Amino acid sequence: MRIIRHPAEIRRLTRRAKQQGKRIGFVPTMGALHEGHLSLIRKARGENRLVVVSIFVNPIQFNRASDLRSYPCTLQRDARLVAEAGADLLFVPSAKQMYPASFQTTVEISNLSRPWEGRFRPGHFRGVTTVVSKLFNLVQPDIVYFGQKDAQQARVVRQMIRDLNLDITLRVLPTVREPDGLAMSSRNQRLSTEARRSSRVLFQALQEATRLIQWGHRRENEIVRRMRQVIRSVPGTRIDYAAVVDPETLERMRRVRRPALILLAVWVGKIRLIDCCEV
Ligand code: PAJ
Repeated sequence: MRIIRHPAEIRRLTRRAKQQGKRIGFVPTMGALHEGHLSLIRKARGENRLVVVSIFVNPIQFNRASDLRSYPCTLQRDARLVAEAGADLLFVPSAKQMYPASFQTTVEISNLSRPWEGRFRPGHFRGVTTVVSKLFNLVQPDIVYFGQKDAQQARVVRQMIRDLNLDITLRVLPTVREPDGLAMSSRNQRLSTEARRSSRVLFQALQEATRLIQWGHRRENEIVRRMRQVIRSVPGTRIDYAAVVDPETLERMRRVRRPALILLAVWVGKIRLIDCCEV
């Protein structure tokens, strides 16, 4: 596996691969890799001749400076894991290369970026879609791999691909979880021992909501009330949002239809976690 630091260099290599008729699979990440990321890379390995992974802690998608500062950075370990998962190229640009002083263009998907994460993290999705556009343009992938864990992000990227007529197939792969159900996330490393134990409650609330819907409950506010109860029973938690939404529009469904997407964002101690599941 080669580590590439310059945008011009990744462009040269992927252009050559394309000319040779190779299908390119791409997995964008911010590093601090775990099994969730690796599942995307392994899937890409199985479907493409050239597999590109990027690690770039994208400053413009962080709405709180402290969150950016404390984002874990473990490049040596990450590079080993990416290689073991079978990638060919690891693209690790610097913030200066991605955002030179003269930078002034953004990509914004209006409606789908507004609710949920968008409401609690203003500007977040603009940062995501801007960097993802840049990365797509540099790598020229045929297939890109995203996690269902960030369901709203995947939905926003799908819309961007459609709206901008990008010739890219989007695959969204299932959330990889710890044995107790906690969705794997780079932020989990920062949970205290006590908060780590409490954080199971997100998955428990999602399971409770799933059960209710499977049993035929259809009133969103009752399902959400039950999720809130489950979460509130654990001290040190604070809910940003809990909702049952339409997976296409991300709008709350007063009367639940299936498929439905259950969304959750919860502070556990000082760490904010998100999770979701489709039912
Ligand atoms: P990051 O949080 O590093 O996630 C990279 C990819 O891994 C995303 O598609 C995310 O949904 C997926 N992922 C994270 N945890 C997962 C899990 N437990 N199971 C399955 N997939 C998981 O998402 C980003 O980076 C950034 O916003 C990015 C798209 C790279 C743009 O900067």
